[in-house]
Amino acid sequence: MHKKMIAGNWKMNCGQSATSDFINKLEDLLESDETGKRSSKAIESELIEIVIAPPFTSIGAAVAARRSEKINISAQNVHYEPKGAFTGEISLGMLEEAGCKYVIIGHSERRHVFGETNELLERKLVATLESKVLPIFCVGELLADREAGRTETVLRQQLEAAWLSLTSDVVAEMLVVAYEPVWAIGTGKTASDKDADDACGFIRELAQEKFGAATADALRVLYGGSVKPENSAGILAQKNIDGLLIGGASLDVDSFTKIITTSV
Ligand code: PGA
Repeated sequence: MHKKMIAGNWKMNCGQSATSDFINKLEDLLESDETGKRSSKAIESELIEIVIAPPFTSIGAAVAARRSEKINISAQNVHYEPKGAFTGEISLGMLEEAGCKYVIIGHSERRHVFGETNELLERKLVATLESKVLPIFCVGELLADREAGRTETVLRQQLEAAWLSLTSDVVAEMLVVAYEPVWAIGTGKTASDKDADDACGFIRELAQEKFGAATADALRVLYGGSVKPENSAGILAQKNIDGLLIGGASLDVDSFTKIITTSV
């Protein structure tokens, strides 16, 4: 059984003081009552893993506010070069030094709002896998793709471009893939449990084609897109889904905690 990941992507929300308050309250809630304590136990027994991805400038505040290692910190983006004349960019070494365990790569807003291509994302993924930071690599189709029956074609294009040069060991041990249908992000429209499971199952099939069955089994695949406390347990119960990447509902510490508690 895989360790389930419950990850909050805060996008461009929460400055330093809001971040410290959130982390303090989350740790309090994870200690406070029976359900909170059950979640803490599940974290300690490595059944679940909690990740928060604040904006770059709040990463330090998140790390400083933690009283334990229960909450892992992720960045939302990275550049593949280690240093140099890349105004506005942040390197993997900087993320590692700041205390990030993970980085989100290829979120649909990076792809569709900022125009990041499959080729660019492949460079980011390869550089990350050579660093000490672990990637959460996002894929997902637009509404027009889904309506045209092109979901699998898009997932195949995005993943085949991304893992072109990867080896099965690296994929099995280090890669987390997040399936986030673009039409479900921030829209309140969640994929049905079955559609989410089918797409995550297809991602596993692609991994099996390229890397073999053992790697496909070991690969961690998350679902993201309008996840909330009301639908999180149903999605997490699906056999191909190993966790959740949560946007809007991760900004509210009570709903994020509820999602954690429904996952154990
Ligand atoms: P949402 O965002 O939960 O607000 O739909 C998910 C994401 O963008 O990762």
